[in-house]
Amino acid sequence: MPKLSEYEAKELPFDNELAGISKRTIEIHHDKLYAGYVAKMKEIGIELAKFAKGETKLTGNQTYSELRSLRSGETFATNGVYLHEYYFEALGGDGSIPDNLLTQAIVEKWGSIESFINFFTESGMAMRGWVVLAWDVQLSRLKVYGCDSHDSGAVWGCLPILVLDVYEHAYFIDYGSDRKAYIADFFKNLDWERVNSLYEKWSNISR
Ligand SMILES: [Fe+2]
Repeated sequence: MPKLSEYEAKELPFDNELAGISKRTIEIHHDKLYAGYVAKMKEIGIELAKFAKGETKLTGNQTYSELRSLRSGETFATNGVYLHEYYFEALGGDGSIPDNLLTQAIVEKWGSIESFINFFTESGMAMRGWVVLAWDVQLSRLKVYGCDSHDSGAVWGCLPILVLDVYEHAYFIDYGSDRKAYIADFFKNLDWERVNSLYEKWSNISR
């Protein structure tokens, strides 16, 4: 694994045009916003490492301090990087739903893929930032969690499998305020096999 200071923004895992979600939206989202989080994650990591090694002196204060800015910026930027990577990783497919371990597990838990998509979609309408289908290591089962921002609402011990970005920057250029149409197209662009490979990797892990 590279050092944090050598972390590079991941390339998009697809080069095809998506249904509904424009190339312009993806370029702004990936090349500017996501890459910006990678840059800030590294910048913050370098400053924290200098302090950790005693090369700089910082004093913590929970109301305001440079260290507080670095600490809270670190989780915001890092989750911003990781969540976007899972989001982009899920896209680029044709939305067709294969019979694989993930879809079987979804049907077992939610009754049908349609029920799951409805549950996930409405969760996306209810949140301000993210919806995450995760493998919950504590419970050893699939769970859907919602987050209002990168660093608010995350549950520790959960490994993301399918991540939906519902920030307005993800859809407003193409859909205006019609978030539901965007989420419907998100599912039309899913690569379920890629998502399934995460499920197969994570679902062996339990606490
Ligand atoms: Fe985003």
